[in-house]
Amino acid sequence: MRVEIRAAIFTAALLVAGLVSDRPIAARQPVRTYVGSEACAQCHETEFANFIRYAKKARSFSAVKKMADKLTRAEIANCYSCHTTGYGKTGGFVSPQETPHLQNNGCEVCHGPGSAHIESEDPEDLEQVSMEKCKTCHDKRKVAEFNFKPMLYGGAH
Ligand code: HEC
Ligand code: HEC
Ligand code: HEC
Ligand code: HEC
Repeated sequence: MRVEIRAAIFTAALLVAGLVSDRPIAARQPVRTYVGSEACAQCHETEFANFIRYAKKARSFSAVKKMADKLTRAEIANCYSCHTTGYGKTGGFVSPQETPHLQNNGCEVCHGPGSAHIESEDPEDLEQVSMEKCKTCHDKRKVAEFNFKPMLYGGAH
């Protein structure tokens, strides 16, 4: 009896191990990458249209471009960390030539990298919008003055 149970457990363990190792790591823990705001447009037409029309973020790269002549490469890289989408992160902005779709601040600076969500359409596959996130780019003192929820009507979309 005991032997049988042990054998069953052993077999079950092998099965589980077999199943797990059969699946590529990428399928279990997909690395989320940045897809750019255009990729959101087909399903979130209103948010996209408002964003492109009203949000300064949708044009944030032009500020860097205008001043680039007077800046060193290191200084420009520093601008990228706040004026583009996902600079320095997996699948984020690299350069205007390689990743033109990520050169402005897009939806994903607030909602997180969208590759998993555009496949699944599941809101769980996005990040929560939080004030902490705004603070990575915005002056901490200024952030205290704005509440991100009214932002929906004041520039985000
Ligand atoms: C193929 C269609 C599709 C694409 C592309 C898509 N979404 Fe969605 N999105 C959905 C659906 C469906 C929902 C769920 C709507 C609902 O539950 O009311 C959703 C919900 C959301 C929500 C709401 C989350 C919540 O908590 O309610 C956000 C934010 C969002 N999407 C952002 C994005 C962003 C940013 C992109 C681009 C990176 C994007 N979506 C691309 C289909 C899409
Ligand atoms: C990746 C960096 C980054 C993050 C994260 C970020 N912002 Fe911004 N935001 C910017 C930049 C850069 C500008 C200025 C764009 C310009 O004028 O060229 C800006 C502009 C704004 C403005 C100016 C108004 C307008 O018309 O667009 C507001 C308000 C704002 N952001 C609010 C927020 C809030 C709220 C959050 C968090 C939910 C947030 N931002 C997250 C970089 C960021
Ligand atoms: C720590 C994040 C951060 C860095 C780094 C940064 N910026 Fe900004 N920048 C912002 C934010 C946030 C705003 C929006 C200001 C606001 O309304 O609070 C902004 C606004 C601007 C504006 C005004 C845009 C407008 O619409 O009037 C210019 C120009 C600008 N930045 C250029 C640059 C340049 C050039 C660099 C690199 C030398 C740079 N920024 C680096 C976050 C940053
Ligand atoms: C400045 C930050 C910011 C940016 C950029 C931004 N959003 Fe949002 N978005 C928000 C906030 C805040 C909410 C409300 C979420 C909450 O209450 O937790 C929201 C909610 C949403 C929702 C849920 C429906 C709704 O209106 O409440 C969708 C869909 C959405 N965003 C799509 C987008 C798309 C698509 C883009 C780009 C075109 C985008 N967002 C860019 C901050 C942002």
